[in-house]
Amino acid sequence: MSPQTAKKKKVPAKKTSKKLKAKPASKNNVKPKLYASLVVQLLSLLKGEHDFIANAANFSALLFSSLPNVNWAGFYFLKDDELVLGPFQGNPACARIPMGQGVCGVAAERVETIIVPNVQEFPGHIACDVASNSEIVVPLFDGERLIGVLDLDSPTIGRFDDQDAEGLNELVTVFVAHEERLGL
Ligand code: SME
Repeated sequence: MSPQTAKKKKVPAKKTSKKLKAKPASKNNVKPKLYASLVVQLLSLLKGEHDFIANAANFSALLFSSLPNVNWAGFYFLKDDELVLGPFQGNPACARIPMGQGVCGVAAERVETIIVPNVQEFPGHIACDVASNSEIVVPLFDGERLIGVLDLDSPTIGRFDDQDAEGLNELVTVFVAHEERLGL
């Protein structure tokens, strides 16, 4: 084989690696597609049902059974300035979280979505399940009023990203809109 032939054979390999670089996993549309399908499934679960607890329970079960690498999914609802455990899937969890404490309490106090790539590095993180390594907490609003948070845990460090935040925010918006129509 001449040196020239050897050089020519390397070209396709370089092209392939460029193609792979152009489509990093974080930019693909797997998560948006999954969340879009969850919106459809959630709407179907909510249709015709007016019980808030039943709907929140089915919502948490939908997330827990559909999202990969999730070991806890559920709600804390704001009652008398404290977060109280609502419907969830996963290990038993602490029943009450004061505002400003843990990831849930901080998200509720700041009224913003919080993504924690590594819970060991979040000061004041409340460990309900030792298997949890990352977490996302999404606040729930009835209009301007905070009514609680949606909390998801994962055993995988860095499990949650902006696509999860976007998808989960859309899902809680669909959920609350349904409950508002029923007089939340
Ligand atoms: N880790 C949460 C507590 C709730 S459990 O994860 C279910 C927190 O720090 O607020």
